[in-house]
Amino acid sequence: MDGLARRGYTGDAGSFEGEREGPTKIAITGGTGRIGGRVTRLLAGDGRHDVVPLSSRSAPYDDPEALRRALDGIDTLVFVSSDGEAARVVVHHQNVLNAAARCGVGHIVLLSGLDVDLDSPFCYAFTNGHNERSLRASGCRFSIVRASVYTEFLLDLLRKAAVGGTVALPAGAARVSPVAREDVARCLAALALRAPTGRHHDVTGPRSLPVGEIAAMAGYRYAQTTPAEFAATLLRRGEEPWWAYAYTGMLASMRQGRWAKAPGAVTELTGRPPLSVRDLLGG
Ligand SMILES: NC(=O)c1ccc[n+]([C@@H]2O[C@H](COP(=O)([O-])OP(=O)(O)OC[C@H]3O[C@@H](n4cnc5c(N)ncnc54)[C@H](OP(=O)(O)O)[C@@H]3O)[C@@H](O)[C@H]2O)c1
Repeated sequence: MDGLARRGYTGDAGSFEGEREGPTKIAITGGTGRIGGRVTRLLAGDGRHDVVPLSSRSAPYDDPEALRRALDGIDTLVFVSSDGEAARVVVHHQNVLNAAARCGVGHIVLLSGLDVDLDSPFCYAFTNGHNERSLRASGCRFSIVRASVYTEFLLDLLRKAAVGGTVALPAGAARVSPVAREDVARCLAALALRAPTGRHHDVTGPRSLPVGEIAAMAGYRYAQTTPAEFAATLLRRGEEPWWAYAYTGMLASMRQGRWAKAPGAVTELTGRPPLSVRDLLGG
């Protein structure tokens, strides 16, 4: 039987029948990764749901047939976004969406980012913005997590850019609202257990902070530099050109104030306030 019919789809985004009857079968893309792995453990924890973590081996993003097999019979998909060069990411996302729509997945909980402006200088603002648009046009019911920059990712970026205890960034007066991966995972899991909200939820840390203050908290002296010098430092330190480009675009997007929203929906969705940068630094 066609997946759409089997799921009780009756023709418009608001008309799924039999929702939440019996155990839910939930798949998670990136389900062996840091965010998806945590979502998997959270959802599998109470033993009430059939939880299926997907990976590059079980459901490769560039294999539409494997994705369709993986999503056949799935009620809810936690769609952790793909990573890597942006053109491939766009194709990966479209393959997942096509498979989910074909299989009649009843609820897609999408991981996106705070910056989804197609005109942003950040390459992943385009991939996430494009993915959100495609999801809205797909006819699938959805909830969207727009995550701020992950605290762990930002601290790692500071470490990569640091030279002799000084980190020089083209951040200007940018403020950002870093969010712990744990909180992103908890929000995705919470939304997976609810009916589709049909909107996005900003998922951020407790407050926005100047990038220089975060660098100081992490123990670095902080300096301003140009985008070109920042990229050159990363390349000299062995970073791949793609990531030097992506990180430089992200800093440009931060300078434009696109990552400063706070507080977001962590407390509302999980019943617990978000972890702060200090919480993650252990101080
Ligand atoms: N907001 C931010 O600050 C920020 C920063 C970085 C990334 N992100 C986004 O957040 C996402 C999740 O981050 P994360 O830290 O949880 O990532 P992660 O730990 O690197 O996990 C990646 C997951 O994707 C799977 N995967 C990799 N290549 C795949 C492929 N070709 N086909 C299917 N699955 C594949 C991996 O499976 P295997 O175990 O088989 O490899 C793994 O489960 C990233 O993918 C990216 O879109 C956001």
